[in-house]
Amino acid sequence: MWQIPDGKPVQEAVHWALESGIRHIDTARFYRNERGVGDAIRTSGVPREEIWVTTKLFPFEALWAERAFQRSLGRLGLDYVDLYLVHFPPPGLLLSTWQKMESIAKQGLARSIGVSNYKVDDINKTLQAADIPPAVNQIHMSPYHYSKDLAESCEALGVAVEAYSPLTRGKNLDDPVRSRSPRRTASLRRRSSFDGAFSAALSSFQSRHGRNGLRATHKSLTSR
Ligand SMILES: NC(=O)c1ccc[n+]([C@@H]2O[C@H](COP(=O)([O-])OP(=O)(O)OC[C@H]3O[C@@H](n4cnc5c(N)ncnc54)[C@H](OP(=O)(O)O)[C@@H]3O)[C@@H](O)[C@H]2O)c1
Repeated sequence: MWQIPDGKPVQEAVHWALESGIRHIDTARFYRNERGVGDAIRTSGVPREEIWVTTKLFPFEALWAERAFQRSLGRLGLDYVDLYLVHFPPPGLLLSTWQKMESIAKQGLARSIGVSNYKVDDINKTLQAADIPPAVNQIHMSPYHYSKDLAESCEALGVAVEAYSPLTRGKNLDDPVRSRSPRRTASLRRRSSFDGAFSAALSSFQSRHGRNGLRATHKSLTSR
């Protein structure tokens, strides 16, 4: 839900997503729309346990991560989140931040914890002192931005890769090399993320784009 303003715009985007059958809603402290996301989830009619909610710790708040988490939870108006991520590696605070993340997980307030935008070194350092390994590394990944080494290292370390911006933030969707139409290029990009055994975080203001996204995940890529 990056770049979608709080209030009505984000509420509509979440409602469209849930009505389309999407069940993973990704927000962050940094996006400043947790309140609208939570309102939309509570008024959607979809049972809470069917929705996977991710939010993220802003690294400037790493020193007081537990308080920052409680504030996120309060804005969302939820009892727990499914996944809490460290949004970016906090310089010099990797281990102490991860200990606070573990404490949040041990209290059952975040069902899983993970990281985002971490390089292999950051993950290795975190793992050295971790009781609970990061479940996920959410990273920028698209046909124009793909780090094979990082993806393979995460896999070897048992950290799932979640691709963000797989549609290259809506850019180059009319790339003639990739396909004949922007809509088809968007479908191919989404499918390449899923077929690569990664999960993907997409975003859309528009209900028709969200519905196209869901249809694309029901198909698989072939070599033709
Ligand atoms: N961890 C991080 O640091 C990080 C960073 C960036 C993003 N993220 C997460 O990943 C999510 C997705 O990232 P993103 O917004 O950068 O990327 P994206 O999904 O690659 O691109 C979104 C853009 O693609 C357009 N789009 C979607 N479906 C389309 C279609 N079928 N045809 C044409 N255009 C289409 C959307 O336009 P419309 O709005 O008009 O539909 C929007 O402008 C974010 O919302 C956020 O939750 C995480």
